[in-house]
This record gives sequence, C-alpha cells and structure tokens, in this order.
Amino acid sequence: MSNGHWKKELESEELLKIIFDYAGRITIENNLDRLLLLMADMGRDMTVADRCTLWLYDEQMDELWAKVAHGAHGMKEVRVPAESGLAGYVYQTSEPLVIEDAYQDQRFHADVDHTTGYRTKSVMVIPLKNKQNQTLGVYQVINKLTREGLFTPQDVRNLSLAASYTAQALEAVLMNTEMEEAQKEIIFKMGEIGEVRSKETGAHVKRVAEYAKLLAIKSGFSEEEADLIKVASPMHDIGKVAIPDAILNKPGKLSEEEFLAVQEHANIGYHLLENSKRSILKAAAIIAKEHHEHWNGKGYPEGLSGKNIHIYGRIVAVADVFDALATDRPYKKAWEMKRILTHFKMERGKQFDPTLVDVFLENLDGFLQIKEKYEDDRTK
Ligand code: C2E
Ligand code: SIN
Ligand code: SIN
Ligand code: FE
Ligand code: FE
Repeated sequence: MSNGHWKKELESEELLKIIFDYAGRITIENNLDRLLLLMADMGRDMTVADRCTLWLYDEQMDELWAKVAHGAHGMKEVRVPAESGLAGYVYQTSEPLVIEDAYQDQRFHADVDHTTGYRTKSVMVIPLKNKQNQTLGVYQVINKLTREGLFTPQDVRNLSLAASYTAQALEAVLMNTEMEEAQKEIIFKMGEIGEVRSKETGAHVKRVAEYAKLLAIKSGFSEEEADLIKVASPMHDIGKVAIPDAILNKPGKLSEEEFLAVQEHANIGYHLLENSKRSILKAAAIIAKEHHEHWNGKGYPEGLSGKNIHIYGRIVAVADVFDALATDRPYKKAWEMKRILTHFKMERGKQFDPTLVDVFLENLDGFLQIKEKYEDDRTK
C-alpha cells in the first residue's frame, strides 16, 4: 500500500453512496459468509482503509473469530481468546480505539499478521452492538490509505453508526444459522435412535411453537427469548420416538402400565438433548423434561411444583395441552372450545401456572388465529 499511491478522504457524497450501496445489499443477504464479507467491504471502503476484519464473539469458546476477508488468505477463519489483542480489548471495554502504529501498542498481538504475512500499522476498532446494547463483536479496520495514514474521529463516528445499523441484519442471519445448525444436530440425534416416527409432528409442533411464543410475549418476555422458546418447543415430545407405536397410537385409553411407559418420554427427550452446548437445544432439553409437570406438584417426571418448574416448561405445558385438546388424537376426538376453556379455568393453579392461564384466556383470539392458520387435514 505504501508506494506513494495515497488515497484521499471521501467526500460526503461518496461516503453516502457507499453506505446506501452496501446497506441495500446487507439487508437482503441471508448467507453468513457473504454478509460478513459485505460488512467487511463496507467498513474498509467507508474509512479508506486497506483491510477490514469483522470479529464476532463465540460464547461457547469465549473467543473472537473472524473470516479474514481481505488479502491473499481470502476467507480463512482465525480465532483469538476474547481478551486478546486490540480486538479483545475493545470487545471487553466496548469503547472505540484508534491506534497510530499497532506495533508500538502492547495490547496488539501480531499473531494474525504472522499467519497472513501482513503488516498492520494504523488500526481503528469499533464495538458492534445490537439494539439491546450487547456487544456482538468488533469491527477492525487496518491501515488507513491516506497520506496521513491515521483514522479520524469522523471515521469513528461513521463506522460506529454503520455498525449499529448492520448489527440487526447480522443478528438475524446469526439466529438463522444457529437454527439451521440446531436443526441439523437434532435430525442427527433422531437418526441415532434409528427410527423417526411420530404421528404428531408437522402441524402440531408448529402450533405448539406459535402458542408458546404468544404466551411468552404476552407474559413479558423479550422477542428474542420468545423466539428461543418458539424454536425449542417443537422438540418437547422428541422422547416419544422411543415409545412403541402400539402404545402411542392405541385407539383407546391406556392401561396404567402403558401410561407409565409413555411418561418416560419426558426423561428420554431430556437425555437426548441435555449434552448440547447450543442454547436452543439446552432450552429444548428443559422443555422436554418439564412440560408434563403440574403447578400443584402432581405431574411427572419429578413432581415439581409452582415456580420450581422452569417457566419454559410451564409455558409449553399450556400450549401443548391446548393443542392436544383442540385436535383429534388417536385416543380422543377434539373437544369443543367451550369445554376446553372450562378445563383451563378448572385447572388454573392445579395443572397449570395460574398466571399463564390468565394470559391464555386474555389473549384467546390470538390462540384461535394460530389454530386457524395451522389447521391440518388430519385433525378435521
Ligand atoms: P398428547 O396427546 O400430546 O397429550 C398431551 C397432554 O394433553 C396430556 O398429557 C394431557 O395433559 C393433555 N390431554 C390430552 N388429552 C386429554 C384428555 O382427553 N383429557 C385431559 N384432561 N387431558 C388431556 P399426558 O396425560 O401426560 O399424556 C402424555 C401423552 O401420553 C399424550 O400426549 C399421549 O401421547 C399419551 N396418552 C395419554 N393418554 C392416552 C390415552 O388414553 N391413550 C393413548 N393412546 N395415548 C395417551
Ligand atoms: C490478534 O492477533 O490478537 C488480533 C489482532 C489484534 O486486534 O491485535
Ligand atoms: C414469569 O415467571 O416470568 C412470569 C410467568 C409466571 O408467573 O410464571
Ligand atoms: Fe409430552
Ligand atoms: Fe405434544
């Protein structure tokens, strides 16, 4: 870069053009690698830098990771401890940092330079925060290409602003990627059992997921956590894959022994999911285990009561039973809505969390809309 071919600072019109151009492409990108590349390109072009690296925090490993987008090592993944280097410093402090010469700064680690054969000099690092003010990672731009070779306060302001706008697109794609990974993992786990069989998948799990999210939102959970519950709840009955068909699809009432066998699905589901480090599957494990606990302590498998039952389990209990009663099962016909509502009022504070029953009854319209929307042929 330093052959005397300095670049000029951008005119404000040029800057605007770059921002609009990238913003349009960033908001519609749903592939994580391509999005990271676009965000890195935008950071570089906006600040007249030679390179830009977008470091993201990996909670499981407590590391920052990046795809080094610019230079000969195109899209190679690098990782550093979350306390390491300039990127780690800014991740920890959440304050922007501007440095004239990285090699004069003790916080800088040349590891990445050593890997890539690149020579870092001027550096600017900006925290990347979401709307909840959580730091997702940091933007690091390297080597300002102007004659002065220094990042300016204007660069800090511009990139901080762009970072806050793009964080939303990034979070959406990260969430999507996490869901896809979780789905792959769960499909693999189901495959491990050797048999994938459940007559209730499809519309039932979709409705339960939607009911659970609605209950969560109306109970005051954030959109983010409600989405976690929504994505995790379809796996509540995963343990049923280990219960014999003859029992699950028995047309009539179960014997005591058969019902005890079915009850095992809660623990089986929990053990299938418990070892995952993914937040979605951790939530799913709790739900699998606790969705048949009763507020009054008369449920299973542990006989937990009240708030000792995880709120996710209490939420899915209401969602699951509402759906079980409102649709046909191999062993029973769908109930009339009036009978269902009477049942929930009767079981308020017995089987179900009283607060959640109130939330359910107060928002009945929303539940009925979901029921309409995801009606399946089999239940009619
Ligand atoms: P499921 O069919 O998904 O039902 C989930 C829950 O909805 C039940 O959990 C129960 O709390 C509620 N529920 C469903 N139908 C009725 C009903 O007719 N009356 C009342 N009061 N509640 C109802 P539960 O009881 O722990 O059952 C767990 C699973 O065991 C059921 O999941 C189903 O797969 C199986 N199961 C339960 N009872 C029978 C039965 O009599 N025959 C057959 N074939 N399976 C049954
Ligand atoms: C590293 O090599 O630790 C990352 C670069 C830096 O921010 O120091
Ligand atoms: C909560 O626990 O966060 C609200 C719902 C309830 O009372 O269980
Ligand atoms: Fe169940
Ligand atoms: Fe269910």
